[in-house]
Amino acid sequence: MKNELEQMATIAKTRKIEELFKTGTRLDKLCLQFGECFFDFSKSQMSEDELVTLIAYAKEKNLGDKIKAMFSGDAINTTENRAVLHVALRNHSRNWHAKGEDANEYKEVMKRASEFAQKVFDGSVKAKNGKPFSAILHIGIGGSDLGPRMVYEALRPIDATGPILRFCANVEPTEFAQAVAGIDPETTLIVCVSKTFTTIETLTNFALARDWLQAAIGTDDKEHLVAISSAPDKAMKYGIKEDRIFGFDEWVGGRYSVWSTVGLSLEMSLGSEIAKAFLDGAKAMDEHFETTDIGQNIPLLGGLIGYWNHTYLGYTTRAIIPYAARLKLLPQFLQQLDMESNGKGIDKNNNPIAISGPVVWGAEGTNAQHAFFQHLHQSPQITPVEFIIIKDGGTKYAASNQLTLANALAQSEALMRGKSLEMVKEDMRKAGKSDEEIEKIAPHRVFTGNRPNICVVLPKLGAYEIGALIAFYEHRTLVEGLLWDINSFDQWGVELGKVIALEINEDLTNGACEKRDPSTANLIKILS
Ligand code: F6P
Repeated sequence: MKNELEQMATIAKTRKIEELFKTGTRLDKLCLQFGECFFDFSKSQMSEDELVTLIAYAKEKNLGDKIKAMFSGDAINTTENRAVLHVALRNHSRNWHAKGEDANEYKEVMKRASEFAQKVFDGSVKAKNGKPFSAILHIGIGGSDLGPRMVYEALRPIDATGPILRFCANVEPTEFAQAVAGIDPETTLIVCVSKTFTTIETLTNFALARDWLQAAIGTDDKEHLVAISSAPDKAMKYGIKEDRIFGFDEWVGGRYSVWSTVGLSLEMSLGSEIAKAFLDGAKAMDEHFETTDIGQNIPLLGGLIGYWNHTYLGYTTRAIIPYAARLKLLPQFLQQLDMESNGKGIDKNNNPIAISGPVVWGAEGTNAQHAFFQHLHQSPQITPVEFIIIKDGGTKYAASNQLTLANALAQSEALMRGKSLEMVKEDMRKAGKSDEEIEKIAPHRVFTGNRPNICVVLPKLGAYEIGALIAFYEHRTLVEGLLWDINSFDQWGVELGKVIALEINEDLTNGACEKRDPSTANLIKILS
C-alpha cells in the first residue's frame, strides 16, 4: 500500500487544494465537530480518495489494536518497559491496569493532593507566619514545567484571587531572579517538580530557592515546601515532609504529565473547578479517540494528515499559530510533546528510519503575521500551518476579537488560495502602475498558495476546551508515532548532552579539557 500512497503523492504534490472542494462532499468528510469545538482539516493537500487509502493503510497497520494497547496498559514504551497511561489520570471511574497489574493507587494520591491544593487555594494551609500563601514558586523543567506554565498562562482569570504562580525552569540565573522578583518569601510555597528528582537544573534552582526562602524565614522551612515526583524517596532526602510529597507513576511520561500531580500548582492557584474541567475536557477527547470510527476520529484523522504531509508530501516542519495571546506558550508545549515523542531515528524493530516527526514551531497570531508569515506565504519550503481560533474573546474588550478571527481566517484562505501573477498584474494595472513597474515588481507580489493548513475552532478559552485540545495533540502524536512505527514515549536523545554537560562543568572548574574536541576545548578556555 505504501507504493500506492507514493504514486498518489506524486500527483498530490502539484494539485490545487482548492480544486478538491469540487466534489461537494469535502466539508462533510474533513470537518469534524467535537462538542462545541470544530476541527477543519479540509484545507489539507489530501483528496477524499487518498484519505480512503490512508485509512486502509492505518487498518493494515492495526492502528486500532495498537491504540487499545495503550488504554489496556500494555508496555508500549518498549525501551523502558513501561505502560503509557496518562489517560487514566483523566478518568478516575475506570479500573486501570499497567502491565497487567492493578494501577488505581494514583486515585488516592491525586485525591490527597487535590485536598491539599484546595487548602492552599482557599488559604487554610498557612505559611510559617500564619498568613495564607500569596505565591507559589513552581520549579521544574521540560515536562515538569511546560504543561503547567502553558495552562496557567491560558487559564488564569484576569481577576483571579488565588495565589499567583511563578515558574522557574532554566538553570541560567536570570530565570530564578525573575521568578522571585516581587514575591514575598514569607508567603511563598515552593513546589519542586521532577519525575526523576535528579534533573540538575531543577535541583540547582531548588537549592537557590531554599537559600532565598531560608534567608527570610529561617532554616525550619518545611511548611513552605512541596515535592512532586515519581521518586518520593529521593525527595524525602531533601527534608520535605512526607505528607507534602505527592507522587505519580512511572507510566506517566514527563511531557504527558500535566494531568498528574505535576499540575498541582495549577489547582493551588486556579482552584479545583478549573482543574476538574481541564481533566474532563481531556477525558471526553479520550473517549472520542478510543471509541470513534477511524473516518470520524479527530486525532486519527489529524495523525493521518500529519503523516501524509511529512512522509509523502515532504513537508518537514509544522507551525502552530494560536490566535490568542494567552495561548502563546502552546507552540512551545507542543514542541516538546511532538519532537521529544516522535523525533526518533530508529523504529520499534531497531531499523533506521528516513523520516520521523517534523520540526514543530510557531507563535501567537496576529503577532506572528508581522514576523515570519512572509516565509509561510512565499518561501518554496512549505510549512503546513495549524491555526487555533477562539470564537469568544472572553474579556470586556471582546469587540476586537472579531478582527482576530478575521485575521486567522484570512491567513488560512490566503495560504491555500494564494494570488496568481495575472491577478497581481491586474490589480497593479487598476492601481495605475506603469507596465515597466508591473514587469519589475509583479513577480515579487505573487503568492503561489496551495499551502495546507488546518483550523481548530474552540468556542472559548476554557479549561474544558484546553484539556480537550491538549488531549487531541497527545493522541495525534501517538497516531503519527504508530504510523512511523516508533516508540513515542522514550527520549534517549536527551541523554548524551546531559552527561557531557556534567563533564564540561568540571572542565570549567579545573580548566582541564583533554577529552574535548578542539573547538569545545578552545571555548572552555575562553569561558573559564
Ligand atoms: O531532558 C528531558 C527530560 O527528561 C524530559 O523528558 C522531562 O520532561 C524533563 O527532562 C524533566 O525531567 P524530570 O521531571 O525528571 O525533572
